[in-house]
Amino acid sequence: MDINIITLFPGMFEGVFQESIIARAVAKDLARIRIVHLRDFGLGPHRVVDDMPFGGGGGMILKPEPIAAALQTVEPRGRVILTTPRGMPFTQDHALRLSREPVITVLCGHYEGVDERVSQLFVDEELSIGDYVLTGGELPAMVMTDAIVRLIPGVLGRDSLHTGDSHYHGLLEHPQYTRPRVYMGLSVPEVLLSGNHEDIRRWREMTAKEKTRAVRPDLLEEPRPTTGNDHEEGGG
Ligand code: ADE
Repeated sequence: MDINIITLFPGMFEGVFQESIIARAVAKDLARIRIVHLRDFGLGPHRVVDDMPFGGGGGMILKPEPIAAALQTVEPRGRVILTTPRGMPFTQDHALRLSREPVITVLCGHYEGVDERVSQLFVDEELSIGDYVLTGGELPAMVMTDAIVRLIPGVLGRDSLHTGDSHYHGLLEHPQYTRPRVYMGLSVPEVLLSGNHEDIRRWREMTAKEKTRAVRPDLLEEPRPTTGNDHEEGGG
């Protein structure tokens, strides 16, 4: 899978993508990550990428021309995703769907926003990683890349299939234990030592539901969000 990331802060990605599972996926050629520096496409000698908002108000808005020029250098670009707190909430369903794309391009939003025509003309999906505002779209791009890359077939070992993950079945994950059997007076539940796979499966299902009910009752109440949230018509 090819993941292109267009950003004003390429240095932010260095450490994160050079460690652990993402680095292994890249080394195994299961994922290729290309970082494109938006500043290279800024206008004029000062490489300007932003400007004041029409209508007044604080902050600077990313201009459309540098973004268009940066996008032109990534071909194919696949689905183009804009990270923004105004986007649909990014979920495991998005991660799974996007992990099946051969190529995606993530455009990191910044400053106070991005000119709306960028969304109208170039963006397939606007995604947010949560109801809070970060200083930029770089951390969301890393979060999404991590969630997507680990789902690419072959990236996780056979022993760590993700079908038991929290959110995979719309529930939080059941509790997990490892050795020692007793730690500070707390014992591993007997059923997990029983070797009875059906009992273990039932216990895990029950405790996953209990945990979900306690922490995220909304997951049990609402229908699971679908991934059909694209704005194909180019709306913002
Ligand atoms: N940019 C700033 N905050 C963000 C968020 N919560 N999700 C995605 N992009 C963002």
